[in-house]
Amino acid sequence: MTTDLVSIELRKAGRSRIEEVDFNNLPFGKHFSDHMFVADFADGHWQNLQVVPFSDFTLSPALSSLHYGQSIFEGMKAYKNEEGEVLMFRPLENWKRMNESAKRMCMATIPEEIFMGGLEALLRVDADWVPNTPDSSLYIRPYMFGTDTFLGVAPSKTYRFCIFTCPVGAYYTKPPKLKVETDYIRSAPGGVGYAKCAGNYAGSMYPTLLAQQAGYDQLMWTDATEHKYIEESGTMNIMFVINGKLVTPATSDSILKGVTRDSIIQVVRSWGIDVEERKVSIQEVIAGIEDGSLTEAFGAGTAVVVSPYSLIGYEGKDYMLNEVPKESSLANRIFNFLNDLRTGRSEDSFGWMH
Ligand code: COI
Repeated sequence: MTTDLVSIELRKAGRSRIEEVDFNNLPFGKHFSDHMFVADFADGHWQNLQVVPFSDFTLSPALSSLHYGQSIFEGMKAYKNEEGEVLMFRPLENWKRMNESAKRMCMATIPEEIFMGGLEALLRVDADWVPNTPDSSLYIRPYMFGTDTFLGVAPSKTYRFCIFTCPVGAYYTKPPKLKVETDYIRSAPGGVGYAKCAGNYAGSMYPTLLAQQAGYDQLMWTDATEHKYIEESGTMNIMFVINGKLVTPATSDSILKGVTRDSIIQVVRSWGIDVEERKVSIQEVIAGIEDGSLTEAFGAGTAVVVSPYSLIGYEGKDYMLNEVPKESSLANRIFNFLNDLRTGRSEDSFGWMH
């Protein structure tokens, strides 16, 4: 198989597993499509580009990334339009961010033609796995990890880059309850919070578990120094509607530059609505809920797209967010706009579909 710039070997699965999957019930990250793209970095260049059946890897127990965490990933989605064509949403943004993560974690970077060539080759062979049912999509997981068999603490000289996909339905079925985290942190200035590296997610699990044991669903992360300013929520960026404006924490080295976040900001600005990217304090959010000036709070990320929150718990007190009727909710308007764009029901005025 040859895409425009790279040659990719194709080894097809003998039998498709697609009939085993109920496309009307697609839990997140559970069903994997028939194939995956794999490439290896060794001797200073990427080689052995292949699309092969989705299957296990054989790994050394001394694999450097299992011990020291050189492991990064991306999350992106593909959709089907009414003509049955497969459309990816802003894939180059994920390619750029993956390389920013790679640089921070001292890993090899991936040329555009390998990232895009791998994606295209994989989606061509597994096009039938892209759902066309409402609220469903094909979640795409590109990732890379160090493969040196070596226990010295040093950057791996070899890497594996892989892409596999999962058909998925809605991520959350009801609006999550958030707890403001004021003891643990997700990231700190000078750290790796802006990188999509595996360890950021591992470190978030214990504090999230404690919050879940206390009756919440997810955490609202605050800054590492004062626990005063909001950074992210769960595994996503966070946005608020305050006095009719869209307000979101400005990105920094401790906040992930979300592709969904950036898309929402561009869309909302194009509607003539003010957007403020700045520091947002927890005090401002609580005061806004109490005096009614804050009308919506929602997470923004690839997996959820937008996810409205129903409650914010802070220092032992719960603050309810009143449900906004669908017709006046900005989160709902954004969701519908992006959904129509991605499924080809509205014009791609931003040139985002690939
Ligand atoms: C995404 O939205 O792609 C995420 O980062 C969430 C993922 C870790 C499930």
